[in-house]
Amino acid sequence: MTALRLLVHASAWEAPDIRSYELRQPTGGVLPAFTAGAHVDLTLPSGLVRSYSLVNSQTERHRYVIAIQKDRASRGGSRWLHDNLRVGDLLNVAGPRNNFALDETAPHSVLIAGGIGITPIVSMIDRLEALDRSWELVYCARKRAGAAFLAVLDGKPRVRCNYDEEPGGRMLDILAVVAAAPADAHFYCCGPLQMLETFERVTRHLPRECVHVEYFSAKEAPAREGGFTLVLTKSGREVAVPAGKTILDALKDVGINVAHSCTEGICGTCETRVVEGTPDHRDLILTPEERAANKTMMVCCSGSKSERLVLEL
Ligand code: FES
Repeated sequence: MTALRLLVHASAWEAPDIRSYELRQPTGGVLPAFTAGAHVDLTLPSGLVRSYSLVNSQTERHRYVIAIQKDRASRGGSRWLHDNLRVGDLLNVAGPRNNFALDETAPHSVLIAGGIGITPIVSMIDRLEALDRSWELVYCARKRAGAAFLAVLDGKPRVRCNYDEEPGGRMLDILAVVAAAPADAHFYCCGPLQMLETFERVTRHLPRECVHVEYFSAKEAPAREGGFTLVLTKSGREVAVPAGKTILDALKDVGINVAHSCTEGICGTCETRVVEGTPDHRDLILTPEERAANKTMMVCCSGSKSERLVLEL
């Protein structure tokens, strides 16, 4: 991911708890290109790194637009940004990277968004419309008043909103949405963990290449069981990973720095080639097939099932 120092050019409320921020080069000019579904990583002054999806059109090269929901359970990321980030500030930004790319050849795309999970979807709709592809969106929020970006979605005939806390409202039946779609559709889901788990369960029977999921937080804890040895092919070093440490921790302890960002297995920055051994995959990036192939792993969160793990480092 490209390291950038960007200016907060503008900011606006999109819903009572959600603010958008428009980031630009301080001197104007072009930003690295991105594709719909991509995210950037912000590094906060505390060192925390947080990933946010790009909301704007991939045709725009002069700005990145992100939207941040103030999370009541925030560990300091969204709360700090809401309370401190102001127009005119400079931010360290890495990006963009896309783990949630559109299959632009799909005959039909079914987009399912929950809450702040609408952010990558807004950019994807822009792209699907530009390509004149067939798509539909089901957008879930507790209440209409809390739903962001309705101004750009309202009035589009392919958008259906589901407000489960409005009078008469109920949770979206994701199984019914999937069952009603054409057989050759591709499915995309971005939203809270519970929604993503339901989505993955009801799409389990579909070909993997038709199912696309974007996680914003880890599903399981990083592997810290330790008790194995890393053999590094480039440096020729051996590094023991003790209990209580991740692979990334153990490498840092001996002065080996692997590029990383989220440290939760959701951004893909720390992906490392596996030469030999069996990783204990804990990330949310690799598909089941990629996990089984054991060609790469995310060293921030995954461990090892074998006593020796040979990595291309
Ligand atoms: S640092 Fe994000 S996946 Fe490892």
